[in-house]
Amino acid sequence: MSEVTGMQEQNSMVRRIGVLTSGGDAPGMNAAVRAVVRKGLYHDLEVVGIKHGYLGLIRGELETLDLGSVADIIQRGGTKLYTARCEEFKTPEGQASGAQVLRDNGIDALVVIGGDGSFRGARALSHLGVKTIGIPGTIDNDIPCTDYTIGFDTAVNTVIDAIDKIRDTATSHERTYVIEVMGRNAGDIAMIAGLAGGAESILIPEAPFDLDSVLEKLQHGVSRGKRHSIILVAEGVGHGMKIGEVIAERTGWEVRVTVLGHLQRGGSPTAFDRALASRMGAWAVDLLMQGQTSKMIGIKGNQLIATDIDEALATPRTVDLSIYDLAGILSI
Ligand code: ADP
Ligand code: F6P
Repeated sequence: MSEVTGMQEQNSMVRRIGVLTSGGDAPGMNAAVRAVVRKGLYHDLEVVGIKHGYLGLIRGELETLDLGSVADIIQRGGTKLYTARCEEFKTPEGQASGAQVLRDNGIDALVVIGGDGSFRGARALSHLGVKTIGIPGTIDNDIPCTDYTIGFDTAVNTVIDAIDKIRDTATSHERTYVIEVMGRNAGDIAMIAGLAGGAESILIPEAPFDLDSVLEKLQHGVSRGKRHSIILVAEGVGHGMKIGEVIAERTGWEVRVTVLGHLQRGGSPTAFDRALASRMGAWAVDLLMQGQTSKMIGIKGNQLIATDIDEALATPRTVDLSIYDLAGILSI
């Protein structure tokens, strides 16, 4: 099915769509919500926003969204619908309550914007008769069956901005800097930001490393005249603070550690994330109108694709280690 679908091509039983954001927020979630609302209204559907993810669903925190309600949010980070983590929704009772709220409010279909945990919730609802489509929204880029998740590009740009700034002071003081970045168990943020930011070394959970070899390489850089080093550490590898201490002990270098933390989750989404979110949000509406359910939207080779959530959750996530190797080569 084409990405842009006109009204004449649709034959829908769906009349009222819900949309929620769940799990960690990510820049671009608002753009996705806006797209769901505007594309739904374009097709004369009603769109209901559910606040605070599955928690708000169970509590019945619903609000009908009109065209104006999503004005002025495409450029904003965070999520207008708020987000939450909800343990109760992992239970059959919680899921049944959520499905009942949707039924009581005449909502036949739901767009869930979040990560793999949120998709598990969407799958559970689909088993209870609610049509669901998942949109990958997380800075971690840790979802299989898509090249990119919404928010990843913005987070990478935030990290690059930090690397550039830290490099100024690192050069001035001729110091070694360890920068810890987010990503949960995935090294994508560290790998891509490290490549684009010219980090001297990148440590990610997907690529086993030996600290002695890392230090040897840095030492080699020093001997050929490098005045500073930046080591980017994905949080999935361990605490940057600890790694910094070990490096200082072993080398005697002056080491400083920066943990970038939650600032990586905020900020205005990049053009890439806004466009990706807009495309995915709009297509989610089309898929629901076709009667599809329990699918996640992804992007591969700039084409949107829909994958069964079951299949997506069973697919191991991989990282392209050739990019990691390239970063190593370019930072010799
Ligand atoms: P993310 O969606 O970013 O992976 P979480 O793993 O925290 O974030 O999941 C977000 C929410 O999705 C959880 O708080 C919970 O409400 C719901 N969820 C997670 N796992 C499941 C599950 N196995 N079954 C049903 N709902 C789940
Ligand atoms: O999944 C997004 C993420 O920011 C991860 O990178 C990080 O490990 C985690 O969420 C932090 O979660 P919290 O916001 O609960 O501290």
